[in-house]
Amino acid sequence: MPNNDSLNANEVARPTSSRRDPDWLRGRLADWLPTVVGAPATITRLEIPSANGMSSETIVVDAEWEGVAHPLVVRVAPMPESDPVFPSYDLDRQFAIIGHVASSTYVALPSLYWSEPDPARLGAPFFVMGRVDGLVPPDVMPYTFGSWVTEAGAEQRATLAEKTIETLAMIHSAPPPMESLDLPAPGETPLRAHVRRLREFYTWASAGRAGSGLIERGFAWVDAHFPVESDAVLTWGDARIGNVIYQDFTPAAVLDWEMAAYGPRELDVAWLIFLHRFFQDLAEMAGLPGLPDFLRRDDVAEAYRRTSGHEPRDLDFYTTYAALIHAVVMFRIQSRAIHFGQAEEPADTDDMILHRATLEAMLAGTYWEKVR
Ligand SMILES: Nc1ncnc2c1ncn2[C@@H]1O[C@H](COP(=O)(O)OP(=O)(O)OP(=O)(O)O)[C@@H](O)[C@H]1O
Ligand SMILES: [Mg+2]
Repeated sequence: MPNNDSLNANEVARPTSSRRDPDWLRGRLADWLPTVVGAPATITRLEIPSANGMSSETIVVDAEWEGVAHPLVVRVAPMPESDPVFPSYDLDRQFAIIGHVASSTYVALPSLYWSEPDPARLGAPFFVMGRVDGLVPPDVMPYTFGSWVTEAGAEQRATLAEKTIETLAMIHSAPPPMESLDLPAPGETPLRAHVRRLREFYTWASAGRAGSGLIERGFAWVDAHFPVESDAVLTWGDARIGNVIYQDFTPAAVLDWEMAAYGPRELDVAWLIFLHRFFQDLAEMAGLPGLPDFLRRDDVAEAYRRTSGHEPRDLDFYTTYAALIHAVVMFRIQSRAIHFGQAEEPADTDDMILHRATLEAMLAGTYWEKVR
């Protein structure tokens, strides 16, 4: 999910207290590495980057064994005492899903090394992957505010959009790895199960505090506008350009499989569209032009249809649902910031949702007429 620290300090999304100590980590990893490599191994560099990433920790590691340098990235589940954004993290499951997609499609993914579910090693489960060179559209400051994405030519951005949408279609062509996914309850459809899990997350996130009237209206809207679902596939979940490493405007690695789910393909198509609108609306709120012609809803839908053979349906529903999912995540992140004393409880709890105006307009059915 994207950080919302464009309007807050970076500390809001990644409070210092949730970080680990690099020297401690380096020592622990140095002890562990030879046990999986089966030979002596050394760590020549370890860094915890401060840019993207607020749910799990991303650690950059250079290791060496058997005379070969290995540029690695270690993804670690958050420490329970950091009051994590989500109630649970299953890194081993993410590792299994990435491995499954790698073995059944041509999707560009980081190479996988090991998954270590034992929390005793680094204080939380983690997995190790190969480090991929390239550029990621930044969340902080958002890429729409001025970045390599805005500086690129329109044709290069068109390539980026096209290749990203092709990637979505390829992910959706994988046979769903049912053993790694939450399955619907008996009698429940995949989309109903998805909404139920979001509601459970919101109930957890709002326990013991004032909820958001806007989010509650959002859930009611979703119930009232429930579509007939297309066939369920493996969805990436956090399907946005900020979770892709690009080389030459082409995906070199698809990251962040935490929100992967079994559900209609429109979940991913709409998340891709909505997350760009989220960053575009932020740019416009800041008086910047942003990229109004990039990842336009109709263009994304058409490109997806062309490359997958499936016409995305009910995008009014799915983009609104995407805005609702993001609202719940934002509500949770702001609650967490308040808990850490880094944000004030607003008088109106709906103000915890940075894109409240967008969600309100979507619920009113007036959002798309002003951006189409
Ligand atoms: N295999 C990799 N190779 C190179 N860089 C990586 C790799 N994995 C992660 N990164 C870097 O770490 C950043 C965060 O990764 P990722 O999106 O998977 O983490 P996250 O905690 O889910 O982040 P967020 O919550 O912001 O989505 C990426 O934007 C990228 O810069
Ligand atoms: Mg990410």
